[in-house]
Amino acid sequence: MTSAIVTNDCVLHHSVAVIENVSIARDTYRVRLNDPAMARGILPGQFLMIRPGEGSDPLLGRPFALYDVARDRSRTPVAIDVVYQVVGRGTAALSRRRTGDFLNIWGPLGNGFGPPPDPAGPVVFVAGGIGQTPFLALARDWLGRSSYGSNGANANERSRSCDRATLLYGVRSANLLAGVGDFEAAGVEVEIATDDGTAGYHGFTTDLLERRLAGGERPVRIVACGPPAMLAKVAQITLHYNISCHVSLENHMACGFGVCFSCVAPIVQTGGAIDLRRVCVEGPVFDARTVAWDEVLGSHIAG
Ligand SMILES: Cc1cc2nc3c(=O)[nH]c(=O)nc-3n(C[C@H](O)[C@H](O)[C@H](O)COP(=O)(O)OP(=O)(O)OC[C@H]3O[C@@H](n4cnc5c(N)ncnc54)[C@H](O)[C@@H]3O)c2cc1C
Ligand code: FES
Repeated sequence: MTSAIVTNDCVLHHSVAVIENVSIARDTYRVRLNDPAMARGILPGQFLMIRPGEGSDPLLGRPFALYDVARDRSRTPVAIDVVYQVVGRGTAALSRRRTGDFLNIWGPLGNGFGPPPDPAGPVVFVAGGIGQTPFLALARDWLGRSSYGSNGANANERSRSCDRATLLYGVRSANLLAGVGDFEAAGVEVEIATDDGTAGYHGFTTDLLERRLAGGERPVRIVACGPPAMLAKVAQITLHYNISCHVSLENHMACGFGVCFSCVAPIVQTGGAIDLRRVCVEGPVFDARTVAWDEVLGSHIAG
C-alpha cells in the first residue's frame, strides 16, 4: 500500500513497496516499485529520488531516471521500473532491499525529453556506462509503442513519431551490459562498444557515432546520457554535423526539487553569458549547444 500526496498526477514525498529487485548485469539491478500514481504521471527523461536505506541512513535521496512503466493486463500503468548500478553507499543499500520492503521516494522530477522531433525521422541515442536507462521509455514513446504521462492508460493510441531508433551503447566490459534485450524488444537497433573489446566494437561509443555520421547518416535528433567527457564529445560531433542534440545530465543531487542548489550546471544564456542552472528543475535534459562544456569538464576534473 502507498501513502502519497497527489496533485494533478504529480506525486510528492511518499512510501512505496518494492515489488522486486533483481540483478540484470554485473553490479546492476532493476527495482520495480508499486506506485500507480507516479506510473500514470511520469514522462521519459524525468527522474525520481529514492531514499535507498532503511530509516534515515543514508539521509539524502539518490536520483534515478525512469527506466519504464509497468502496466497491468488492461495496459493501465501500475509500477515504476528503475535500473541502477551499485557505485557507492546509497546504491549498495538499494541493492539490499527486498520484495515487500518500503522505500521513501519523491517525484516525478525534472523536465523530461519533451515532444518528439518534428519533422519525424530516425533518432540516435548515445549511452555510456549506466546512461542507457532513460532511453527505453523514450524509445517506446517516440516509436509509438507506449504512451506516458496523463495519456499513459491509452498505450498504443499514439501514432509513430520517429521511424527508426538506434542505441549506441558503450560500457567498460561486456558483463556490464544491462537491458539490451529490452531495447531490442522495443524495436530499437542496438550497437555496442566496450572499452576492453569483450563485446561489439572495441572502443568508445562516440567512435560509433562519428563513423555513422561520416558515412552519411543524418538522424533528426541525437540524445545522449553518460559521463561528462562522453557528453562533451557527442556535443562537439553533433555541432560539427549540425544535428539537433539533447543531453541528460547526471549531476550530484541532494533535494531533487530546486531548493539546495547542489546540482547546478553552467548553461549558456541567450546573449552568451554563462549562468548556473539547477539540473533537477531546469534539466536534467538540456540542448547540448547550451551547455558550457569546458566549464563542465573543468569542474568535473577539479571535483
Ligand atoms: C537525473 C539523474 C538520473 C540518474 N539516473 C540513474 C539511473 O537510472 N541509474 C543509475 O544507476 N544511476 C543514475 N543516476 C546516478 C545515481 O544517482 C548515482 O549513481 C547515485 O546517486 C550514487 O549514489 P551512491 O550513494 O551509491 O554513491 P555515492 O556514495 O554518493 O558515490 C559513489 C561514487 O559515485 C559517484 N557518483 C555519485 N553520484 C554520481 C552521479 N550523479 N554521476 C556520476 N557519479 C556519481 C561519486 O562521485 C563517487 O565516486 C542518475 C543521476 C541523475 C542526476
Ligand atoms: S538537487 Fe537541490 S536544487 Fe537541485
